[in-house]
Amino acid sequence: MIHPFDMSQDIERVLVSEAEIHTRLVELGQELSRDYAGKKPIFVGVLKGVVPFFAEMARCIQIPCQWDFMSVTSFEGGTQSTGKLTFRKDIDHDIAGRHVVILEDILDSGRTLSYVCDLLRQRGPASLKICTFLDKPAGRTVDMNADYVAFTIPNAFVVGYGLDYDDYYRNLPYVGVLKPSVYED
Ligand code: IMP
Ligand code: MG
Repeated sequence: MIHPFDMSQDIERVLVSEAEIHTRLVELGQELSRDYAGKKPIFVGVLKGVVPFFAEMARCIQIPCQWDFMSVTSFEGGTQSTGKLTFRKDIDHDIAGRHVVILEDILDSGRTLSYVCDLLRQRGPASLKICTFLDKPAGRTVDMNADYVAFTIPNAFVVGYGLDYDDYYRNLPYVGVLKPSVYED
């Protein structure tokens, strides 16, 4: 059950602290600013989990760029991807000839990003790269890798900093492992 007053009691351990997130994203923002200098990239965020990561990255990227968002979902409330992707919202920009960087909260099985990449690649971008906040390599079922990774994590179900369980815990300022008792009856 979700405890209404103290989310932190549902967290088994903190995997990535608020301070670690901040330090790493400043670094990653500088890397992207260097790599995309003069390219006027479009950053495409995959909603909803990417919101805190996207906002912080946007502050750390110091070159002219545009933003866009799309929404795809593969979970229906549980801790396992259903494998069935539902496309909910497309981007607004025409990306033909543009340098596109997809921002995602977590790369797990790889199905979501593989679907999103296939879709965007058909529109003829000048380049298409992936920047993920978390990478969980142990979860991979399709051949998919990110070009930029903020943190590589072990195979555990995590929440916080945008990541959810049943749409809760996204507002935790750090990334933590959710106690299995929360989702096991
Ligand atoms: P993939 O398609 O399996 O790579 O999963 C990508 C999506 O699954 C992410 O955008 C998340 O919404 C969700 N997801 C995967 N692992 C976790 C996790 O540990 N916690 C919360 N959400 C996750
Ligand atoms: Mg999710």
